[in-house]
Amino acid sequence: MTWRRPDAPLGYGHQSIDSSDHAAVAGVLHSSHLTQGPAVAAFESGLCRATGARAAVATCNGTAALHLAMLVSGVGPGSLVWTSANTFLASATSAAMCGARIEFVDIELASGNVDLRRMAVMLAAGPVPDVLVVTHFAGRSCDMEALIALKQRYGFKLIVDAAHALGARSTSSGRQWGLAEHKEIDAVCLSFHPVKTITTGEGGAYLTGDVELAERARRLASHGVERRPREDPFPGLGGTGGSPPHWYAPMVQLGYNYRMSDLQAALGNSQLARLSSFVERRRSLAERYDAGLKPFEDVQRPALDPDHAWHLYHVRVPAAARDELMAWLADGGIHTQLHYYPLPLMPWFRARGRGRGEEQFPMAVEHARTAISLPLYPDLSESEQARVVAAFAEWFGR
Ligand SMILES: Cc1ncc(COP(=O)(O)O)c(C=O)c1O
Repeated sequence: MTWRRPDAPLGYGHQSIDSSDHAAVAGVLHSSHLTQGPAVAAFESGLCRATGARAAVATCNGTAALHLAMLVSGVGPGSLVWTSANTFLASATSAAMCGARIEFVDIELASGNVDLRRMAVMLAAGPVPDVLVVTHFAGRSCDMEALIALKQRYGFKLIVDAAHALGARSTSSGRQWGLAEHKEIDAVCLSFHPVKTITTGEGGAYLTGDVELAERARRLASHGVERRPREDPFPGLGGTGGSPPHWYAPMVQLGYNYRMSDLQAALGNSQLARLSSFVERRRSLAERYDAGLKPFEDVQRPALDPDHAWHLYHVRVPAAARDELMAWLADGGIHTQLHYYPLPLMPWFRARGRGRGEEQFPMAVEHARTAISLPLYPDLSESEQARVVAAFAEWFGR
């Protein structure tokens, strides 16, 4: 368990580090692979097993994974990409980095996920995007069955920003599906930032059901260099018998350095071994919040969806009280957060005419005026959680 002072202020999220994590990272320090070695390959296989993906490419952060997903989906200047008005910057900036035009879709208040009914109307009116990026907000899956039906009808590519959602599932056609199991999803992207379900310090992953796409993403993540060239274009430079020399690493396209290191992946492997216990603990804390906050009719609680991974536990309170409540909680050492300030209202997007006004995203704006993310992480103790509930009781009971 991560060491924290007993009276330390509570944040909304925190990593959970134990002695197995220390040993895993120290093991890499004693090995000859600090960059890419066996730990990265093992982490990629572990992620496939945990999510139902066929292939995984571990990256230096989640934003890089999203950028790779955009690139291999063919996003470039002139592409149209849609994403949620209630997500982290990278769901949209990864498309903007490719020169795409971005449009935002409003959300449904109950889940914070993109509003699929509104989206169906927008799709019918056209133009249809080349790529749709959906975020499983707070760790709760979007309705994948409905999304896949829309994809099949309109032909866009579907990228899931699952930075919140490692450990989440979805239920459709009478069964549970792993996060990256639906073959209709083009890419699923993860983040392993310390507040996420598992951490690698900084880190991310691109997951897909298409092994060839994964190879393209892997090449882009490593300078655009071909790993196993078959031909030797300059036989005089050291190759034997027509095969290229081992040091010949041809750069065939413009790429990046988005690789994860073995140090990070070793931490990821030892964290991944505890994924189900992390999600279980988050779920049980969410159930305790649900029971503790139930008496307060001014506090809207999220649904206890059994497929939820509970990255965030967010409630909604009357807009008139929200900011004062957050400040009062912070005075008592309970630091809450807003996820998210509506992306279309960010100055950079506004300046480019993307967020034309609040009236276009009424639900994302209402969410941003009323939502609060409460402390939720595996090492949050029951007495610490009781402090949060007692603070709500004091505020709403007075
Ligand atoms: C929804 C979402 N998408 C993308 C990211 C980007 O991940 P990273 O911080 O690892 O680049 C985050 C992380 O904050 C996130 O919450």
